[in-house]
Amino acid sequence: MIPTPDLSHLTSEDYEKVYEPAEDTFLLLDALEQDQQQLQSLQPSICLEIGSGSGCVTTFLAKVLHQPALCLTTDLNHHACQITKRTGMQNGVAIDTVRTNLVDAIMPRLKQKIDVLCFNPPYVVTPTEEVGSVGIEASWAGGVDGREVIDQLLPLISDLLSPKGIFYLLLIHENRPLEVMKMLKEQQGLSSHIALERRAGRERQYIVKIYR
Ligand SMILES: C[S@@+](CC[C@H](N)C(=O)[O-])C[C@H]1O[C@@H](n2cnc3c(N)ncnc32)[C@H](O)[C@@H]1O
Repeated sequence: MIPTPDLSHLTSEDYEKVYEPAEDTFLLLDALEQDQQQLQSLQPSICLEIGSGSGCVTTFLAKVLHQPALCLTTDLNHHACQITKRTGMQNGVAIDTVRTNLVDAIMPRLKQKIDVLCFNPPYVVTPTEEVGSVGIEASWAGGVDGREVIDQLLPLISDLLSPKGIFYLLLIHENRPLEVMKMLKEQQGLSSHIALERRAGRERQYIVKIYR
Protein backbone atom coordinates (compact mmCIF):
# COMPACT_ATOMS: atom_id res chain seq x y z
CA MET A 1 0.00 0.00 0.00
CA ILE A 2 1.38 3.39 -0.98
CA PRO A 3 1.05 5.95 1.82
CA THR A 4 -0.87 9.16 1.25
CA PRO A 5 1.65 11.97 0.69
CA ASP A 6 2.84 13.83 3.76
CA LEU A 7 0.87 17.08 3.86
CA SER A 8 1.98 18.10 7.34
CA HIS A 9 3.64 21.25 5.95
CA LEU A 10 0.21 22.64 4.96
CA THR A 11 -1.75 24.80 7.39
CA SER A 12 -5.39 25.83 7.67
CA GLU A 13 -4.32 29.14 6.09
CA ASP A 14 -3.07 27.26 3.04
CA TYR A 15 -6.43 25.50 2.81
CA GLU A 16 -8.16 28.88 2.67
CA LYS A 17 -6.37 29.37 -0.64
CA VAL A 18 -6.18 25.88 -2.15
CA TYR A 19 -8.39 22.81 -2.20
CA GLU A 20 -7.86 20.52 0.76
CA PRO A 21 -7.65 16.87 -0.33
CA ALA A 22 -11.03 15.22 0.15
CA GLU A 23 -12.92 12.08 -0.88
CA ASP A 24 -12.63 12.95 -4.58
CA THR A 25 -8.85 13.34 -4.26
CA PHE A 26 -8.64 9.99 -2.45
CA LEU A 27 -10.75 8.24 -5.08
CA LEU A 28 -8.24 9.39 -7.68
CA LEU A 29 -5.37 8.10 -5.53
CA ASP A 30 -7.15 4.75 -5.19
CA ALA A 31 -7.57 4.50 -8.97
CA LEU A 32 -3.86 5.17 -9.49
CA GLU A 33 -2.89 2.63 -6.85
CA GLN A 34 -5.26 0.07 -8.34
CA ASP A 35 -3.44 0.51 -11.68
CA GLN A 36 0.05 0.49 -10.18
CA GLN A 37 1.29 -2.45 -12.28
CA GLN A 38 -0.10 -1.09 -15.51
CA LEU A 39 1.27 2.38 -14.80
CA GLN A 40 4.72 1.04 -13.98
CA SER A 41 4.88 -1.09 -17.11
CA LEU A 42 3.79 1.92 -19.16
CA GLN A 43 7.11 3.57 -18.20
CA PRO A 44 5.67 7.04 -18.60
CA SER A 45 7.97 9.86 -19.64
CA ILE A 46 5.57 12.74 -19.01
CA CYS A 47 2.75 12.87 -16.47
CA LEU A 48 0.45 15.86 -16.33
CA GLU A 49 -2.08 16.81 -13.69
CA ILE A 50 -4.46 19.60 -14.54
CA GLY A 51 -5.71 21.53 -11.48
CA SER A 52 -3.18 20.17 -8.98
CA GLY A 53 -4.43 22.07 -5.90
CA SER A 54 -2.30 20.81 -2.99
CA GLY A 55 -0.17 18.58 -5.24
CA CYS A 56 -1.31 15.46 -3.41
CA VAL A 57 -2.29 13.52 -6.57
CA THR A 58 0.89 14.15 -8.57
CA THR A 59 3.08 13.43 -5.56
CA PHE A 60 1.24 10.14 -5.09
CA LEU A 61 1.52 9.29 -8.78
CA ALA A 62 5.29 9.81 -8.64
CA LYS A 63 5.42 7.32 -5.75
CA VAL A 64 3.24 4.82 -7.65
CA LEU A 65 5.69 4.98 -10.55
CA HIS A 66 8.85 4.37 -8.49
CA GLN A 67 10.77 5.98 -11.26
CA PRO A 68 11.71 9.36 -12.57
CA ALA A 69 9.22 10.75 -15.02
CA LEU A 70 8.60 14.39 -15.73
CA CYS A 71 5.80 15.38 -13.37
CA LEU A 72 4.08 18.46 -14.68
CA THR A 73 1.07 20.24 -13.20
CA THR A 74 -1.10 23.17 -14.12
CA ASP A 75 -3.48 25.25 -12.07
CA LEU A 76 -4.92 28.71 -12.57
CA ASN A 77 -4.62 29.45 -8.85
CA HIS A 78 -1.05 30.61 -8.23
CA HIS A 79 -1.18 29.49 -4.58
CA ALA A 80 -1.91 25.97 -5.87
CA CYS A 81 1.22 26.07 -8.05
CA GLN A 82 3.40 27.13 -5.10
CA ILE A 83 1.84 24.63 -2.71
CA THR A 84 2.10 21.80 -5.25
CA LYS A 85 5.84 22.44 -5.51
CA ARG A 86 6.15 22.48 -1.70
CA THR A 87 4.23 19.21 -1.38
CA GLY A 88 6.53 17.62 -3.91
CA MET A 89 9.60 18.81 -2.00
CA GLN A 90 8.17 17.62 1.30
CA ASN A 91 7.87 14.15 -0.21
CA GLY A 92 11.06 14.09 -2.29
CA VAL A 93 9.30 14.50 -5.63
CA ALA A 94 10.29 17.11 -8.23
CA ILE A 95 7.24 18.73 -9.78
CA ASP A 96 7.20 21.38 -12.49
CA THR A 97 4.20 23.65 -12.09
CA VAL A 98 2.68 25.98 -14.64
CA ARG A 99 0.07 28.59 -13.84
CA THR A 100 -2.30 28.47 -16.75
CA ASN A 101 -5.87 27.77 -17.78
CA LEU A 102 -6.09 23.99 -18.34
CA VAL A 103 -3.21 23.30 -20.80
CA ASP A 104 -3.06 26.64 -22.61
CA ALA A 105 0.61 27.36 -21.86
CA ILE A 106 1.93 23.89 -22.69
CA MET A 107 0.19 23.22 -25.98
CA PRO A 108 1.12 22.56 -28.72
CA ARG A 109 4.62 21.74 -27.39
CA LEU A 110 3.35 18.67 -25.51
CA LYS A 111 1.01 17.54 -28.25
CA GLN A 112 0.40 13.78 -27.91
CA LYS A 113 3.22 13.47 -25.38
CA ILE A 114 1.28 12.93 -22.14
CA ASP A 115 1.49 9.35 -20.91
CA VAL A 116 -0.54 9.81 -17.72
CA LEU A 117 -3.06 12.64 -17.40
CA CYS A 118 -5.13 13.32 -14.27
CA PHE A 119 -7.88 15.86 -13.60
CA ASN A 120 -10.09 16.24 -10.56
CA PRO A 121 -11.99 19.17 -12.03
CA PRO A 122 -14.31 21.77 -10.57
CA TYR A 123 -17.39 19.58 -11.01
CA VAL A 124 -20.05 21.08 -8.73
CA VAL A 125 -23.23 22.38 -10.40
CA THR A 126 -23.21 26.18 -9.87
CA PRO A 127 -24.44 29.29 -11.67
CA THR A 128 -22.26 30.03 -14.73
CA GLU A 129 -21.18 33.35 -13.18
CA GLU A 130 -19.26 31.46 -10.49
CA VAL A 131 -16.98 29.78 -13.06
CA GLY A 132 -13.71 31.49 -13.97
CA SER A 133 -12.31 32.64 -10.62
CA VAL A 134 -8.60 32.11 -10.00
CA GLY A 135 -9.09 31.69 -6.26
CA ILE A 136 -10.37 28.84 -4.09
CA GLU A 137 -13.81 29.00 -5.78
CA ALA A 138 -12.16 27.57 -8.92
CA SER A 139 -11.80 24.34 -6.97
CA TRP A 140 -15.47 23.52 -7.18
CA ALA A 141 -17.46 25.92 -9.42
CA GLY A 142 -18.41 23.88 -12.49
CA GLY A 143 -21.34 25.87 -13.89
CA VAL A 144 -24.21 24.20 -15.75
CA ASP A 145 -24.27 20.44 -15.00
CA GLY A 146 -20.85 21.03 -13.40
CA ARG A 147 -19.52 20.58 -16.93
CA GLU A 148 -18.38 24.02 -18.02
CA VAL A 149 -14.66 23.56 -17.26
CA ILE A 150 -14.70 19.84 -18.09
CA ASP A 151 -16.23 20.59 -21.51
CA GLN A 152 -13.43 23.06 -22.29
CA LEU A 153 -10.89 20.28 -21.83
CA LEU A 154 -12.65 17.33 -23.48
CA PRO A 155 -11.98 18.31 -27.13
CA LEU A 156 -8.23 18.44 -26.35
CA ILE A 157 -7.78 14.92 -24.95
CA SER A 158 -6.78 13.19 -28.16
CA ASP A 159 -4.26 15.96 -28.80
CA LEU A 160 -2.79 15.54 -25.32
CA LEU A 161 -2.51 11.78 -24.89
CA SER A 162 0.49 9.91 -26.25
CA PRO A 163 -0.27 6.70 -28.19
CA LYS A 164 -0.06 4.76 -24.89
CA GLY A 165 -1.52 7.58 -22.78
CA ILE A 166 -4.16 7.13 -20.06
CA PHE A 167 -6.41 9.86 -18.66
CA TYR A 168 -7.98 9.58 -15.19
CA LEU A 169 -10.93 11.97 -14.92
CA LEU A 170 -13.05 12.39 -11.82
CA LEU A 171 -16.74 13.05 -12.47
CA ILE A 172 -19.90 13.03 -10.40
CA HIS A 173 -23.31 11.72 -11.41
CA GLU A 174 -24.58 15.24 -12.28
CA ASN A 175 -21.77 15.58 -14.87
CA ARG A 176 -23.34 12.65 -16.78
CA PRO A 177 -20.26 10.42 -17.08
CA LEU A 178 -21.84 8.09 -19.66
CA GLU A 179 -22.53 11.04 -21.95
CA VAL A 180 -18.91 12.22 -21.56
CA MET A 181 -17.67 8.73 -22.47
CA LYS A 182 -19.95 8.59 -25.52
CA MET A 183 -18.78 12.04 -26.69
CA LEU A 184 -15.13 11.02 -26.38
CA LYS A 185 -15.79 7.89 -28.44
CA GLU A 186 -17.85 9.59 -31.14
CA GLN A 187 -15.79 12.75 -31.49
CA GLN A 188 -12.23 11.50 -30.88
CA GLY A 189 -12.43 7.70 -31.10
CA LEU A 190 -11.26 7.35 -27.51
CA SER A 191 -12.18 4.33 -25.41
CA SER A 192 -13.10 4.61 -21.74
CA HIS A 193 -14.60 2.80 -18.80
CA ILE A 194 -15.52 3.57 -15.22
CA ALA A 195 -12.54 2.39 -13.19
CA LEU A 196 -13.93 3.19 -9.74
CA GLU A 197 -17.04 4.66 -8.21
CA ARG A 198 -17.96 5.61 -4.69
CA ARG A 199 -20.57 7.50 -2.75
CA ALA A 200 -19.26 10.44 -0.73
CA GLY A 201 -22.07 12.03 1.24
CA ARG A 202 -24.65 13.11 -1.34
CA GLU A 203 -22.20 12.82 -4.22
CA ARG A 204 -21.78 9.79 -6.45
CA GLN A 205 -18.19 10.03 -7.67
CA TYR A 206 -16.60 8.19 -10.60
CA ILE A 207 -13.12 7.78 -12.00
CA VAL A 208 -13.41 7.53 -15.76
CA LYS A 209 -10.34 5.98 -17.35
CA ILE A 210 -9.81 7.14 -20.94
CA TYR A 211 -7.36 5.76 -23.52
CA ARG A 212 -6.92 5.15 -27.24
C1 LIG B 1 -11.38 19.86 -7.08
S1 LIG B 1 -9.86 20.75 -7.04
C2 LIG B 1 -8.72 19.38 -7.11
C3 LIG B 1 -7.38 19.67 -6.49
C4 LIG B 1 -6.45 18.45 -6.43
N1 LIG B 1 -6.13 17.96 -7.74
C5 LIG B 1 -7.08 17.34 -5.63
O1 LIG B 1 -7.52 16.35 -6.24
O2 LIG B 1 -7.18 17.47 -4.40
C6 LIG B 1 -9.78 21.45 -8.68
C7 LIG B 1 -8.49 22.22 -8.99
O3 LIG B 1 -8.55 22.65 -10.36
C8 LIG B 1 -8.10 23.98 -10.46
N2 LIG B 1 -8.74 24.54 -11.65
C9 LIG B 1 -10.03 24.89 -11.81
N3 LIG B 1 -10.25 25.34 -13.05
C10 LIG B 1 -9.06 25.27 -13.70
C11 LIG B 1 -8.64 25.61 -15.01
N4 LIG B 1 -9.49 26.11 -15.90
N5 LIG B 1 -7.35 25.43 -15.32
C12 LIG B 1 -6.46 24.95 -14.41
N6 LIG B 1 -6.80 24.61 -13.16
C13 LIG B 1 -8.09 24.77 -12.81
C14 LIG B 1 -8.53 24.62 -9.15
O4 LIG B 1 -7.80 25.80 -8.87
C15 LIG B 1 -8.26 23.48 -8.16
O5 LIG B 1 -6.94 23.53 -7.70
